[in-house]
Amino acid sequence: MPSPDTSALGPEFLWGAATSAYQIEGAAAEDGRSPSIWDTFCRVPGAVAGGDTGDVATDSYRRWPEDVALMRTLGLDTYRFSIAWPRIVPDGTGAVNQAGLDHYDRFVDGLLEAGIRPNATLYHWDLPQALQDRGGWPERATAEAFAEYAAVVAARLGDRVTDWATLNEPLCSAWIGHLEGKMAPGLTDLTAAVRASFHLHLGHGLAAQALRAAAPGPVRVGLANNLSPIEPASDSEADLAAARRADGHINRWWLDPIFGLGYPEDMLSVYGVDLPVQGDDLKTIAQPLDWLGVNYYFRQIVADDPTGPVPGFRQLPGPGAQTAMPWEVHAPGLEQLLLRVTHEYGARDLMVTESGAAFDDVVGPEGRVDDAERTAYLEQHVAAVARAAAAGAPVSAFYYWSLLDNFEWAYGYAKRFGLVHVDYATQQRTIKASGHRYAEIIRQAR
Ligand code: NOJ
Repeated sequence: MPSPDTSALGPEFLWGAATSAYQIEGAAAEDGRSPSIWDTFCRVPGAVAGGDTGDVATDSYRRWPEDVALMRTLGLDTYRFSIAWPRIVPDGTGAVNQAGLDHYDRFVDGLLEAGIRPNATLYHWDLPQALQDRGGWPERATAEAFAEYAAVVAARLGDRVTDWATLNEPLCSAWIGHLEGKMAPGLTDLTAAVRASFHLHLGHGLAAQALRAAAPGPVRVGLANNLSPIEPASDSEADLAAARRADGHINRWWLDPIFGLGYPEDMLSVYGVDLPVQGDDLKTIAQPLDWLGVNYYFRQIVADDPTGPVPGFRQLPGPGAQTAMPWEVHAPGLEQLLLRVTHEYGARDLMVTESGAAFDDVVGPEGRVDDAERTAYLEQHVAAVARAAAAGAPVSAFYYWSLLDNFEWAYGYAKRFGLVHVDYATQQRTIKASGHRYAEIIRQAR
């Protein structure tokens, strides 16, 4: 089968896959790791499907050499992973846990020996519970603690890791974790959510400074934002206004301050919460970015919903095929987003830090997983990235989410996003048909 036309991406383009610490590592109490807010949240009855936890996950804290071998088989150029803050600074501030640092040190060496370029995320949602006990992201001290942790990690790994993301999807930490209550720490408090969003941004800026100051080698600092194209459900004035608010809530709130535009005025009045800005905070937040990561899963078709939670819109199902989440498959949305951040925000280097889909995979008689839907999804999204590049978006990397089936947060292990199937009873890994297809796409693109 011919691969999608990737000629616009050029020979330097990097092909990768992504994971995060809590979703794959397991070994939750190993080598001095302290509990994170997700360890706590998983124990709240009803919070996570099936009562699942990340205690074991894909056991990748131990099995990483096998994972690196899989990356080689797939022919990946790069791997995006996250570092668990509770392994490095278990109390959130103060004492550094050398055993935790040693683990990532060995892991980075393992990647480099395999010829795979590391892309490390500092915060993929696993806040040390000790910091939550002192108020968490709604408090400024958490942003300051994040910079302290960033400096420690950069000093140890910054001679070998060039690409760094401060935050992964701060929208989810703030809005889903503090407003909708569906992710850790499980709050439903608008003031806490807005304050958390601000301190996540401040943490990003402070950590970017800390990374640049503490790393012995050259670093390229970015962050991964989840973004969605927004479409009004109708051209009624109410739906158009709802679409504008949804765009503010989902996209502009997360891009404007990072790109030095401050917080969107319309959303400040929608939320009606004072931001705890001090001194030069807005400048700190707008540190120059070496790259912007875009995580893309779906577009949002929105209708006005004055009875719904702030900011008063609801999402309608789109007409396209659906994944198991169920999220609508809509590859042109990725092309649109990449062009938007290029033209409206002047992003100079873009990475697709996540794109992927969950489907109800079935393991066939010979252990094969013929995940034709995921294969089609992958091809369509790679093609969308190539079209964006051809139209001028400076996109340099694509990371499929995820390398492996793993712990899908509040959905537990029921939702499988991997290119590689994991049998959780035996931890056996099997490359799915989509994984083989990805390897072929990568080979043909070179
Ligand atoms: C975004 C998150 O970064 C990742 O942790 C999650 O598993 C995927 N999306 C799929 O929902």
